[in-house]
Amino acid sequence: MQKNDFSLFQEAFPVNRELIWLNNCGTTPSSTNVSNAIQSYLDGYSKNGIFSEVESFYSVKNEIKTSIVELLGGETSEYAFIHNTSEGMNIFSYGITLPQNSTILLLEDEYPSNVYPWEHLKDKGHTIKFIPIGKSPSEFLSNFESCITNNVSLVSLSAVHWCTGIPLPLKEIGEMCKSKNIHFVVDGAQGVGHIPMNVKEMNISYMAFSAWKWLLGPLGLAIIYVSNDKLETLKVKFKGTESVLGSENYLPYKEIYKTGAERYEVSTPSFIDWVYLKASLQLIRSTGFTKVRERIYYLSDLLANGLGKQNFMINTDSFAEKTGIIVAKKENIDSNKAVNYLRENKIITASRLGGIRFAPHAYNTEEQIEKTLTILKKF
Ligand SMILES: Cc1ncc(COP(=O)(O)O)c(C=O)c1O
Repeated sequence: MQKNDFSLFQEAFPVNRELIWLNNCGTTPSSTNVSNAIQSYLDGYSKNGIFSEVESFYSVKNEIKTSIVELLGGETSEYAFIHNTSEGMNIFSYGITLPQNSTILLLEDEYPSNVYPWEHLKDKGHTIKFIPIGKSPSEFLSNFESCITNNVSLVSLSAVHWCTGIPLPLKEIGEMCKSKNIHFVVDGAQGVGHIPMNVKEMNISYMAFSAWKWLLGPLGLAIIYVSNDKLETLKVKFKGTESVLGSENYLPYKEIYKTGAERYEVSTPSFIDWVYLKASLQLIRSTGFTKVRERIYYLSDLLANGLGKQNFMINTDSFAEKTGIIVAKKENIDSNKAVNYLRENKIITASRLGGIRFAPHAYNTEEQIEKTLTILKKF
């Protein structure tokens, strides 16, 4: 049943004929839908330049934003295109005004993109503290609560921990941030397209996420979300041609910023990346965001069960919440060596914090999971 539902999805990924790609929370190979879309865009562009009618600028932009709103809630005007999560976090860390001597809470062993951009605040008298991730979302929540003091004015957390696969309890965190007037920033790179998220229900004020993981988008394209009520206070630190209202008329120079989050876009984007992301989102949407998510969970459960039978300790042994990132550890098994061994056998995983990290996507097959388990058993 599951297999038949996804056979078209599976066929759309040529990587399936070459490798077993289980590192989809790292990067994702492209589909034939993407190759075709880019090819026809380039055909049009080569003949008519920006006057080509294949993939027109505003329709591509609107289609991506409409899909993102369907997935994450909010309004299209609250989203803007950038290049990576780090850039988004810098937009936030330089643009948000914090009270003096604030404490900023980050996540233990967080990906650098949600750490380095905050560091300059230490030179301005603020303090950065890391919340221990714990072994489960509920353990994290109690760690989070113990870290909340009167000085905490900003919290920036990943939606899902990139090494442990733990989905963070964003709704509860968002509620607490709202009640205590704390800026709530989310690094959505590991969460968007993977776990259920809604910016309004989770009281997220700012979010940045890269497109090349669970959304199957291109390297170097990312999106920020800035809640409407924060637009006037989040300063524009990089003013460029596209920051202002009426940007299409270059002269005279303009003072007034665009009304929505696009004021942070700075200038001319890499449009070909938008075409790529649009094609990927169309593929996911044609199956359905929810169905794709369920398929990811189904494959990761299959993997976790098989690994459990081989006596691996699995991250999901400690929590019941769903995650598409499975991390397996076993005494006497060196995760780097195991990952290299799997790679020699054309299976792509990653070694993180001493564990083997697996992240299937909807285009992976049951047979690939079985084969991965069989090969790992021989290690
Ligand atoms: C939690 C997290 N944030 C961000 C990123 C990507 O960062 P950037 O978009 O700055 O390259 C990753 C990639 O692995 C990640 O795991």
